[in-house]
Amino acid sequence: MIALGCDHAGFELKQAIIKHLDERKIEYKDYGTYSEDSVDYAVYAEKTARAVANGECELGLLFCGTGVGISMAANKVRGIRAACCSDLFSAEMTRRHNDANILCLGGRVVSPEKATELVDIFLDTPFSGEERHARRIAQIADIENRN
Ligand code: RB5
Repeated sequence: MIALGCDHAGFELKQAIIKHLDERKIEYKDYGTYSEDSVDYAVYAEKTARAVANGECELGLLFCGTGVGISMAANKVRGIRAACCSDLFSAEMTRRHNDANILCLGGRVVSPEKATELVDIFLDTPFSGEERHARRIAQIADIENRN
């Protein structure tokens, strides 16, 4: 199950990705927003990130204008590793090395075609599981624990 969330600036791109997920028969839960009426991205980042953090969904996709604000907010939820990417190499490596659990995309940055490629590579790439990467991820969690 994939968690989806966006603000008004990411709504159109989220709709394009929903169409793609439907075509791929990938199940998702959409945590809003549900229109282009102006909203605050942190609200939808939190709803979506909590669904991933509590195990309701395995991975998440978030959309705002740049992908940046919504990733900053999502990363405040314990256990979330949200990555804002606009190139395929980063989208792949953030799964393989960082075990990122949310991909953030900018509706004003990437085209629907590019976003579709980014989503596919993110969803289809596993974490490598290598010890050095697991150790580094544990160090990220440790920073959280020391706050
Ligand atoms: C909304 O105008 C815009 O600021 C927001 O979608 C996002 O890009 C923030 O990072």
